[in-house]
Amino acid sequence: MYRSIFKSGLFDGKTVIVTGGGSGIGRCVAHELSALGALVLIVGRTQSKLDAVAAEIDAVGGKVQTYVCNIRDEDAVQNLIASIVSEHGSIHGLVNNAGGQFPSPLKQISLKGWEAVLQTNLTGGFLMARECLNQTMQRGGGAIVNIVADMWGSMPGMGHSGAARAGMVSFTETAAFEWAQYGVRVNAVAPGYVASSGMDAYPPTMAEAIRAFPRTVPLQRFATEAEISAPVVFLLSEAASFITGATLRVDGGRPNVRGGYPMEAAQNPPAAFDGFHLASTPKVLQQEGD
Ligand code: ADE
Repeated sequence: MYRSIFKSGLFDGKTVIVTGGGSGIGRCVAHELSALGALVLIVGRTQSKLDAVAAEIDAVGGKVQTYVCNIRDEDAVQNLIASIVSEHGSIHGLVNNAGGQFPSPLKQISLKGWEAVLQTNLTGGFLMARECLNQTMQRGGGAIVNIVADMWGSMPGMGHSGAARAGMVSFTETAAFEWAQYGVRVNAVAPGYVASSGMDAYPPTMAEAIRAFPRTVPLQRFATEAEISAPVVFLLSEAASFITGATLRVDGGRPNVRGGYPMEAAQNPPAAFDGFHLASTPKVLQQEGD
């Protein structure tokens, strides 16, 4: 079972959507929320990936349903939320986690590539949040958590994603203000380098650079997926009832590094929290012989 630090039954009777629930952070969040009693609705583009996660959650007695939807498609998002509302009634939580990008220097990004990344990482999240607000949360309140990224200062090689994620932080702040009147809280979580399946999507030429990431992080390691899920669950929970418009950095202190100031070797680094019983090390981080 998932080893959550939150009390069991915390999300009993709650319905929570997790986009990008078929892999990585989304899969982990779906597991933790269902372990805490939520009915979790996982959304993604690929039925087989969603089915695999649903089978894992089923196997430990969790409540889960799958929905195929392209979050870039306005009609599809409107229809998705309408069918969820007619089947389940209120939606209490939304985790806008679906995302994706490709590495490229800015000067080589085509208009098509730029727009695709903006649509997935900014517009899709807006559409999901707007439809949840208009079709259900406006009546009964709710909590939205947008997963962004550590793009503070810059995001070299990922400029389209950095621009989209920065836009999502601004969207989070404006939605927090405009939707507070309905009892809807809107926050974001900005993960740093996470040891997640998404790392294996990058080209092999990036493997060396990926393995070196912890050298730029004060806590000197990668995050586990469970270390991202826990703050997402916290922000969805009643413990965060007075938090809205916040972006919680979960990055081991990476943006606090000052170029030119040496980083001491870790003496007593806090141990990683890995509550996810199905976590696996991405291939790019596996030692030879693993
Ligand atoms: N995950 C990544 N991109 C997505 C999209 N466009 N729709 C749904 N899930 C996604």
